[in-house]
Amino acid sequence: MSAWGSAFTDLTRSNLHDYVRRRIRPGGGTRPALLLLEDRGRRAVVKDYRPSSWLLRTLVGPWLISREARVYRVLSGTPGVPRLIGILDRHALVVEHIAGRSCADYEDGALPPEFFARLQRIVEGIHARGVVHCDLKNRSNIVVADRGRPYIVDFASAFTRGGSLALLRRYAFDRFRNDDLRAVVKAKLLVGQLWNQPDADFAFRRDPPERTVRAVRDAARWLFKLFTDRNRPPRREE
Ligand SMILES: Nc1ncnc2c1ncn2[C@@H]1O[C@H](COP(=O)(O)OP(=O)(O)OP(=O)(O)O)[C@@H](O)[C@H]1O
Ligand SMILES: [Mg+2]
Repeated sequence: MSAWGSAFTDLTRSNLHDYVRRRIRPGGGTRPALLLLEDRGRRAVVKDYRPSSWLLRTLVGPWLISREARVYRVLSGTPGVPRLIGILDRHALVVEHIAGRSCADYEDGALPPEFFARLQRIVEGIHARGVVHCDLKNRSNIVVADRGRPYIVDFASAFTRGGSLALLRRYAFDRFRNDDLRAVVKAKLLVGQLWNQPDADFAFRRDPPERTVRAVRDAARWLFKLFTDRNRPPRREE
């Protein structure tokens, strides 16, 4: 594990349980387990595909973990993004825990205008590093930390502008950058209750190429989910 003071330097898969403070969510099917860890006064979250279905554990999970870790490395030091502490093994990564509540848990009107202005600056900072998040409309990926500071988590769907298929990537990057910004403006309009017509026009308008790109993306997600759900173990009664 990377240095964060001296916290978590000795963390390994075999001693993971010594660090667990709370299980945030059990894993299973397509979902990774989430555990809250603590060491020397610091807290971290481990996202772990080991308890997930066979397909996620063996193939998709390791791919998602390495992609997400790569994005966290690209974003290292960007305001509003938790630090990557390290990769536990190919199934799990460990990131700084952000104390707070998810934006999805807030009543409409409960967050002030400054929150959304800060959130927009954070998203622009992420874009400036060449990363699009692609899942900001899921407001549970926005964490409201102390003093109303926004943080963004879950970069599993994110992608970077560079790499192979450069032209296609650049096109998709511009499209998804707009999607990220729209998600922020929609949150401002709906959760923030800060309705105004120019923002509404921006948030809800779609041109035909964009509708096509989104349809392809949604179809890919649907197929992925269909495929992985077939491998989901039967739900255990609690
Ligand atoms: N570093 C963190 N600090 C605080 N909360 C976190 C952190 N990472 C994740 N969470 C919380 O746990 C939730 C689930 O984590 P994450 O989004 O990474 O997993 P997921 O499999 O994509 O889950 P979901 O499908 O619910 O989005 C997040 O929506 C967020 O509320
Ligand atoms: Mg998420």
